[in-house]
Amino acid sequence: MSEASLPFNEKYCPSSVSVTSGEKRRQEWEKSIKNLQEFWAEKAKAIDWFKPFDKVLDDSNPPFYKWFAGGELNVSYNALDRHVKAHRKNKLAYIWEGEMGEVKTYTYYQLYREVNKLAKVFKDFGLKKGDRVAVFLPVIPELPITLLATARIGGIHAVVFSGFSAEALADRINDCGAKILVTADGSFRRGKPVAIKETADRALLTTTSVEKVIVVKRTGQPIQMKEGRDVWYDDVMTKAGANVYVEPEHMQSTDPLFILYTSGTTGKPKGVQHGTGGYLVWAYWTLKWAFNPSDEDIYWCVADIGWITGHTYNVYAPLSLGVTALLFEGTPDYPAQDRWWDIIERHGVTILYGTPTAVRMFMKFGEQWVLKHDLSSLRLLGTVGEPINPEAWRWYYRVVGKEKLPIIDTWWQTETGGFMIAPLSGIELTPLKPGSATLPLPAINADIYDEKGQSVGTGNKGLLVVKSPWPGMLQTLWKDPERFKQTYFGKWANIYCTGDYAIKDPDGYYWLLGRADEVLKVAGHRIGTVELESALVSHPAVSEAAVMGKEDSVKGEVPVAFVTLRSGFQPSDELRAELVKHIRTTIGPIATPDAIVIVNKLPKTRSGKIMRRILKAVLVGAPIGDVSTLEDDASVEDIKVTYEELRRQINKK
Ligand code: PRX
Repeated sequence: MSEASLPFNEKYCPSSVSVTSGEKRRQEWEKSIKNLQEFWAEKAKAIDWFKPFDKVLDDSNPPFYKWFAGGELNVSYNALDRHVKAHRKNKLAYIWEGEMGEVKTYTYYQLYREVNKLAKVFKDFGLKKGDRVAVFLPVIPELPITLLATARIGGIHAVVFSGFSAEALADRINDCGAKILVTADGSFRRGKPVAIKETADRALLTTTSVEKVIVVKRTGQPIQMKEGRDVWYDDVMTKAGANVYVEPEHMQSTDPLFILYTSGTTGKPKGVQHGTGGYLVWAYWTLKWAFNPSDEDIYWCVADIGWITGHTYNVYAPLSLGVTALLFEGTPDYPAQDRWWDIIERHGVTILYGTPTAVRMFMKFGEQWVLKHDLSSLRLLGTVGEPINPEAWRWYYRVVGKEKLPIIDTWWQTETGGFMIAPLSGIELTPLKPGSATLPLPAINADIYDEKGQSVGTGNKGLLVVKSPWPGMLQTLWKDPERFKQTYFGKWANIYCTGDYAIKDPDGYYWLLGRADEVLKVAGHRIGTVELESALVSHPAVSEAAVMGKEDSVKGEVPVAFVTLRSGFQPSDELRAELVKHIRTTIGPIATPDAIVIVNKLPKTRSGKIMRRILKAVLVGAPIGDVSTLEDDASVEDIKVTYEELRRQINKK
């Protein structure tokens, strides 16, 4: 934040790119905000429509906005057919690199063929427009193929990150009522096979909607195949025939394209629903504006397709633009700490879209790993998922970018569908400041509000809001329109509330300051503290739980759980280990707490509400502040003593 008030710093404007004061961008932004409908009518021309839309924006029933109402299109047609019919037929769509170093490539034509085959398989299994397909796969080519095949026949996909537990998968399948599940025999994690089919099988014990399970062979490990339900992907694809063509379904612009579950402030994940036309136009333009990929680029977004970044920026945006994208299945430090740099050098990657957690991890490994490789192919660097601290920004800029490459810090959310605040390189490069995502994109009417709904102006922290609809915004929460309204528009009517704190500097630059609610960002993964608390109290030993985020030098923040035990249970290392295991099996390894602190009592108000503020103060070592509403002042002391004791124990190990 120290640089927030400084005027634009020349040093961070790469000399190879012509940079003005960002004036062109400001002009474009003002024009777009004034004439929202005209602006989007023009931008929508980048997409192929089967039937033109009647209205750019139907806002007759806010906040249920309808983008490009009356228009018909198909996303898989835009991602594949239109390139196959034109000059990109034999251009590479994907270069895939597996965890074990295998490389596979797909031209747009080859991808088109595979997608048509799988679309035929889906049709033969009776999948119809509007039916849901659950996807539980590692990052292998069959993952985007599944998404595109689903979209081709008008299905709705619901991808579940392959690191989630059986319980988490079952909850999501049950919520969306998926008819088909596409999964794999296994996945690889640091070279070792992980039994994801076994996880899927356990999930399917508590679901009733799934009729067919299509299993991709990835690891070759032995698995159970349930007669009549489970089929091998390769078998059904071969049976579909080599040259099948499936007519892409004519979808309404407002038909749902996918559901993606994300964490919120309650125990139940939210099924964020994205539509077809608005989402695709948004995906296309945001990538074009920020990264401006061309036919010469090899673009690599490191995100897993299990998250929104992978949906938009590994599948829909690059393919609709006809870009060559690299997909990587594995981990950044396997088999060695230079895996990323090795990939960039071997494949000639030109655009790298990474994360602050990865950058901080590489900083720890040391720059020698980067310097071993020729990274001269790179022309742009991106980052997403959590605030990037200026130190990490500078390291990325200096060591990876050789003080020449712009850092495109993109702020956005699962709900926003695509970038919202980011530097642009398509119009002209936006002047950069380390640690700021810079300015709202064209047509994004962002502001920062205080609790009363007043704009806070320059230099004051407040809640980031968006005051006008945009094409990529979520349509609703799956089967829960009331929760959608309450969560995002409940505070102020027709004002989208992001749940993030931000501050604007005198140049109008936005500095994102993290979540304002009970949602954590652990290594960029979004985890609700209430989800963790529910998981903990579902264990027979736990009476109450409160989970807090604690700053971490690599992951940004990590969860720390305070728990009280039911009578008959005693604190022990074994119990703590069991609780960690319990979280891994009810949510997944990404939610593993950094510490579980067993206490006698939690600090509560007289009305019985846990005082999270106090727990936070204990964690960061800040003064406790006013405790006058505490039920029993002594419990604060208990917590401090227990926590410090535990830290001492941990430090000894
Ligand atoms: O807190 C913000 C943070 O990630 C949240 C959204 O998480 P999710 O829906 O999982 O989407 C992540 C990928 C888009 C936001 O509310 N966040 C995301 N990008 C940034 C960020 N915080 C600061 N800077 C960013 N660039």
